[in-house]
Amino acid sequence: MGDVGNEEKAAVDSKEWYLTAHALEGVPTSDHLKLRTISLSLAVDSIPDRHLVVQNLLISVDPYNRTRLTGVEDGLYFPPFKLNEAITAITVGRVIRSKDSNYKEGDIVFNFFSPVAEHCVVPSELVRKLDPTSGVPLPDFLSSLGLPGFAAWVGIDVVGDPKPGSNVFISAAAGAVGIYAGQLAKLKGCRVIGSTGSDEKVKLIKEEFGYDDAFNYNKETDLDAALSKYFPDGIDVYFDNVGGKMLEAVLNHVNRHAQILVCGMISQYKKIWTEREGVRNLLNIVGKEVRIQGFMSGSYFDRFEDFTKEMHGYIKEGKISSKHKIYHGIESYLECLSSLFTSSNVGKVIIEVNP
Ligand SMILES: NC(=O)c1ccc[n+]([C@@H]2O[C@H](COP(=O)([O-])OP(=O)(O)OC[C@H]3O[C@@H](n4cnc5c(N)ncnc54)[C@H](OP(=O)(O)O)[C@@H]3O)[C@@H](O)[C@H]2O)c1
Repeated sequence: MGDVGNEEKAAVDSKEWYLTAHALEGVPTSDHLKLRTISLSLAVDSIPDRHLVVQNLLISVDPYNRTRLTGVEDGLYFPPFKLNEAITAITVGRVIRSKDSNYKEGDIVFNFFSPVAEHCVVPSELVRKLDPTSGVPLPDFLSSLGLPGFAAWVGIDVVGDPKPGSNVFISAAAGAVGIYAGQLAKLKGCRVIGSTGSDEKVKLIKEEFGYDDAFNYNKETDLDAALSKYFPDGIDVYFDNVGGKMLEAVLNHVNRHAQILVCGMISQYKKIWTEREGVRNLLNIVGKEVRIQGFMSGSYFDRFEDFTKEMHGYIKEGKISSKHKIYHGIESYLECLSSLFTSSNVGKVIIEVNP
């Protein structure tokens, strides 16, 4: 993340990822997403008023972007990306030209809808200034203080609010959201168990992120038996990141008045809806009087300042820690997005654009 070096330039070449074909099923490939180079003018006259030219430093790679590649307007998440247009992501970048007196060159900004590009021109109203002197490493603005931390906080602190001593289960527990959901549930005095896809990650979340126990679901031939073993007293709260077979197994182990906080269902994102797995034992919701609630963190943005204050406090006190999987160069975006659908990453997947 070295010097910008654009001070005297009239234009800059910028690589960006754009959609060439819809990907209805499976993992996206170079048939669907391609990289191209465009030239962006840096001449101040060419920049519209209240716009900024931003050099992206860090790009967040998130599962919901898979759902935007289908071309299908299904009301889920955000609208689909359009063919031949740059796809977008959450980024942290540096202002290199400003046509807004509230921003100056060198300011570090958070952008929720940046093109997945090395540089971009953005309306200043869409970005938020970050304080790089706050003592928080920049990648944390995309993890603990970004969407994953916020989604975990909304689920655990706002929608769920588990009581001390509750038995809490978290899937994709070593992922970006899972790591924070587990730590926040521990701070509430819960007994927290996670599932994840490798032995290395099982060890990590127990040793570094305070999980009371964890298991590798890829090694469990019988998820029901695994949940019986780890939850002899049943599950009070399930923070669901994966859906599918795990959700079905959980419904056989829920206690009366259990809460199922549905943050996401990544096991189903690669399939068109008619091919998705059904959950056969939904009837258990009735007998056990279970509350299942999906949530979108975007619907709670009015609480973002509360979240930031609380999370920042936890980070400063050493009560919440992070793990990042950093890839290098914008070229790695496709590989990173695909990797989310395997068990290969730990923590938040981020691209450092110009290492
Ligand atoms: N509601 C919201 O506002 C909101 C906001 C952010 C994220 N989310 C959702 O939260 C979930 C986690 O997101 P994240 O950013 O933290 O991603 P992540 O956990 O960092 O990465 C995805 C992880 O999911 C697991 N996974 C992939 N395919 C799977 C499958 N078929 N079955 C079971 N596990 C599978 C993998 O870990 P292991 O296999 O090793 O466990 C993978 O590393 C996603 O469903 C995402 O869409 C929701």
